[in-house]
Amino acid sequence: MKERIKKLLDDISSLKAANKDELEALRIKYLSKKGEISSLFNDFRNVANEQKREVGQLLNQLKDAAQTKINELKVSVESNSDAQEAMDLTRTPDPIELGTRHPLSIVKNEIVDIFSRIGFTIAEGPEVEDDWHVFSALNFPPEHPARDMQDTFFITRDPDVLLRTHTSSVQSRVMLNQKPPIRVLCPGRVYRNEAISYRAHCFFHQIEGLYIDKNVSFADLRQALLYFAKEMFGEDTKIRLRPSYFPFTEPSAEMDISCDLCGGKGCAFCKGTGWVEILGCGMVDPNVLENCGIDSKVYTGYAFGLGVERITNLKFKVKDLRMFSENDVRFLDQFKSAY
Ligand code: DAH
Repeated sequence: MKERIKKLLDDISSLKAANKDELEALRIKYLSKKGEISSLFNDFRNVANEQKREVGQLLNQLKDAAQTKINELKVSVESNSDAQEAMDLTRTPDPIELGTRHPLSIVKNEIVDIFSRIGFTIAEGPEVEDDWHVFSALNFPPEHPARDMQDTFFITRDPDVLLRTHTSSVQSRVMLNQKPPIRVLCPGRVYRNEAISYRAHCFFHQIEGLYIDKNVSFADLRQALLYFAKEMFGEDTKIRLRPSYFPFTEPSAEMDISCDLCGGKGCAFCKGTGWVEILGCGMVDPNVLENCGIDSKVYTGYAFGLGVERITNLKFKVKDLRMFSENDVRFLDQFKSAY
């Protein structure tokens, strides 16, 4: 009897189970009612009295050892099967949540895309500028109100260091550095000393366009802008150019498009006129060309400047400019885009 018990103790210490079925088979073999250990307990009756104590202890030891071994095997079988699940390469992965693009970026990218199809490339300039590139080169007279502290942020005591108030400053940089023909689009952030409200902010975004070559005419400007308006707002969009004034263009104009909301019939958005203003434009003033080293007798050009917030408001009907810079995820989350 003692021999049998010792042999079983030996066997049990080296038991192995690769999966739940094998483990269950072992449990039945050793620990079930008809298992080997139970049958030893049955035989215990026949053990001679003087050996009962010793054999009884051995039997209990055997039973504990078997129970402990089966428990250990159970833990290892279960953790193996977890690992196998984690390694299931056929499982469909969790879908990755895509982020959204900022509405201003969507619109900027779309505008850039539209003009790049007619040959415009991108140019950029610094946000911290000097007076010459922002004002003087662009024909602003010295007493022009835009140079006033009220409109312009000066960032040091030196009145020559300021935050650009428009992306037209990139025009002067490009003209100084490139020879015609020039055909660039200059997107960027601009700053003005304005009280923040739903319709004005102290920083916003513009895109400047500049085309300089021989024989560029106002008709070229009009055609480029008509193409843009139709691409951006739909084939049925109409444009109208109203005479205006900018120091750096002569003649100058402001462009309206037919109101997207009412189709030109007149509504609250277009204040009943059927038209909404979207940009300023004109023929580059010969003084500006000369200031930037381009012969105004040989070359002419057009320029235009549009506000990205304005176009975005039109496209997405955003009523409050402040939404663009508040980083409210509930707002931003709505703008899914391929652009
Ligand atoms: N710089 C002007 C502004 O900030 C916009 C503008 C108007 C740009 C006419 C131009 C232009 O290039 O020709 O209001």
